[in-house]
Amino acid sequence: MQQLYPHPGDVDQATLVDLYAPPPEPSVRVNFVASLDGAGTLDGKSAGLSGPEDKRVFGILRMRCDALLVGAGTVRDEGYRALRLDEQRRRWRLEHGLSEYPTLVIVSGRADLDPAQPALADAPVRPVVVTRHGTDTAHLEPVADVIRAGDHHVDLATAIGRLRADGHAQILSEGGPRLFGSLTAAGLVDELCLTVSPLLAGPGAGRITAGPLAPTPEHLTLRHALLADGQLLLRYGR
Ligand SMILES: NC(=O)c1ccc[n+]([C@@H]2O[C@H](COP(=O)([O-])OP(=O)(O)OC[C@H]3O[C@@H](n4cnc5c(N)ncnc54)[C@H](OP(=O)(O)O)[C@@H]3O)[C@@H](O)[C@H]2O)c1
Repeated sequence: MQQLYPHPGDVDQATLVDLYAPPPEPSVRVNFVASLDGAGTLDGKSAGLSGPEDKRVFGILRMRCDALLVGAGTVRDEGYRALRLDEQRRRWRLEHGLSEYPTLVIVSGRADLDPAQPALADAPVRPVVVTRHGTDTAHLEPVADVIRAGDHHVDLATAIGRLRADGHAQILSEGGPRLFGSLTAAGLVDELCLTVSPLLAGPGAGRITAGPLAPTPEHLTLRHALLADGQLLLRYGR
């Protein structure tokens, strides 16, 4: 892997881990992969857009967060497994003052999740389900803590405030598009880590963002650009 910007040169594993250090203040970082022509999926999943180096960064981002936020659609469509890290990453976390595992946080307005699915049932630490007031969550309470925020829709700003109050300063969102769209609309995105894959997916797939229009476009600044196997791995921040 090579760094193109800001300091051109080869990137080893230690440098890569440093390049993805979260900001000193609490932040929400979003990670996505997209094709050159803007598709967020191939055949309904993100796997075909990814590759070994994107997966390497994906693993580093997970290693460096306190909470991993994901929309219920992605959990359902991608068949999310329990959030487990290998021993080396767990040790790294403990040595750097983090808990052994990040906490999985699933956003679902309808609480339409199967408590038997591995992401919930096999989780190494108790996951959190973020939903709105009035939703029936009795089926989830044996396997997850529940945060309620908002009456008609999930109030993500309130939910993130609650997560921070519970010690989850660095939040990584792995999507999907509707969750990203809601985070953008609420002005909650501090960073986007975007892998651009050298593929023309053609028409059909949606973008990496979806939902109601955001009030105004927001400008982000390029923090770094990496190149590996023809993929660009970009980190943008406020
Ligand atoms: N390219 C990539 O890097 C990438 C990353 C992730 C996902 N994906 C792809 O994206 C697709 C899924 O898209 P998606 O838009 O359905 O994913 P999503 O944003 O993960 O899930 C949407 C669902 O999550 C819940 N949700 C999200 N935001 C919410 C909010 N603000 N308030 C309340 N509930 C909210 C709702 O669940 P309920 O219906 O339960 O209320 C909603 O139906 C999959 O095909 C997946 O492969 C691609």
